[in-house]
Amino acid sequence: MDYLNKLLFGKDFKWGVSTAAFQIEGACDADGKGKSIWDTFTAQKGKIFSGQTAGIACDFYNNYKADIDLIKKLNIPNFRFSISWTRVLPNGTGEINQAGIDYYNQVIDYCLSQGIEPWVTIYHWDLPQVLEDQGGWTNRKVVDWFISYTAICAQHFGDRVKYWMVMNEPSVFSGAGYFFGIHAPGRTGLKNFLPAIHHIVLSLAAGAKKLRELLPEAEIGTTFSCSHIEPRSDSKRDIKAANVADALVNRLFIEPVLGLGYPMSEIPVLKGLEKYFQPGDEQNMSFDFDFIGLQNYTREIIKYSFFTPYIQASQVKAKDRNVPITAMGWEVYPPAIYHVIKKFDAYPQIRKILITENGAAFPDQVIEGEVDDLRRAEYLQTHLQQILKAKQEGCKVDGYFVWTLTDNFEWAEGYHPRFGLIYVDFDTQERIVKSSGKWLAGFLKE
Ligand code: NOJ
Repeated sequence: MDYLNKLLFGKDFKWGVSTAAFQIEGACDADGKGKSIWDTFTAQKGKIFSGQTAGIACDFYNNYKADIDLIKKLNIPNFRFSISWTRVLPNGTGEINQAGIDYYNQVIDYCLSQGIEPWVTIYHWDLPQVLEDQGGWTNRKVVDWFISYTAICAQHFGDRVKYWMVMNEPSVFSGAGYFFGIHAPGRTGLKNFLPAIHHIVLSLAAGAKKLRELLPEAEIGTTFSCSHIEPRSDSKRDIKAANVADALVNRLFIEPVLGLGYPMSEIPVLKGLEKYFQPGDEQNMSFDFDFIGLQNYTREIIKYSFFTPYIQASQVKAKDRNVPITAMGWEVYPPAIYHVIKKFDAYPQIRKILITENGAAFPDQVIEGEVDDLRRAEYLQTHLQQILKAKQEGCKVDGYFVWTLTDNFEWAEGYHPRFGLIYVDFDTQERIVKSSGKWLAGFLKE
């Protein structure tokens, strides 16, 4: 692996690590914080693996300095984290909670004092419960709620934060949260999914415009989850199914944002979105982002499936394909990230690509005080080789952020999938830098 040298990626390449508020902070009702849909969802029976909650999580709220010190120790120059909407606005709109503002100011200031650049995600899935009670993303008023929240973030943190990501993975929080009901707020069906999609797209563009207006110097991006998709066979039906899955997984949100509209011809059921359109929406769905964050973990093999409603496509699960898998059941397939970069590099509307998440969960074990996670180190190295290949072929990919710093709360999966470069003992909050973290620290060393 010795030819993998960070200098090959160029001196302007951004190296970082990504996190999200709900997954690490804990302190779920500290200092005036309001409830988010994830506080409500995790309190319900049967929603989360083993009934786990994120009330404490990694206790980053109280230990942020120690964790930022670890980022520094790993030689990682950029730290991506999200703002918890209800820490700042406990009721989603209206009165600001000064303690929440103070907290993020301290986190930002501490990063800067340590020479670490803060990268802020405005929305990483934790919608205020008060807003969900009024329909959440299905209520068109969410666009105004989101603009006000974004403006508050810009006004309070924008003097020091240069890099912004408006939203994280819209297809996941809308699909899992408003169609399948396996993530908060647990809604199901097209009647929730379709209005949520449209209001998310409008909010994303409107939030980005607000940032641009208030912070003309900022670098504004947003992040999308994307998988490399392949048909199971060369049959026409499988190829068509793979195209439909690709439109749903990879194109549904990015294309309207780039000004290309929804991929309705591939997914006819999306015609139902028209009901939620108002005059002017077509123009208000897009924004010229400075960068697009792509988040890739795996590839999907897709087959025709008569019984799957709306799309007639389904996955051939990795566990049934005799391939290496992670603790999430996702195939380890490094070329996926190369194909994803190539695919999005081909959109002329995209100025710059950053990989804002990539990483893997494996069943780590502490042996004599050490976590020797060779598979994770290898996962990162082999994915970086693929990114380098894309870059050397001229793709506009300019950054790589590992998911994630410490083991944390993996949504409906609770704490069992460990994605961290740093192991967390959730009983004691003790941290152990894993071998993968040590490898990265060496790789990033000046
Ligand atoms: C996507 C999400 O942004 C993040 O919250 C999640 O933990 C990771 N990927 C891993 O599933």
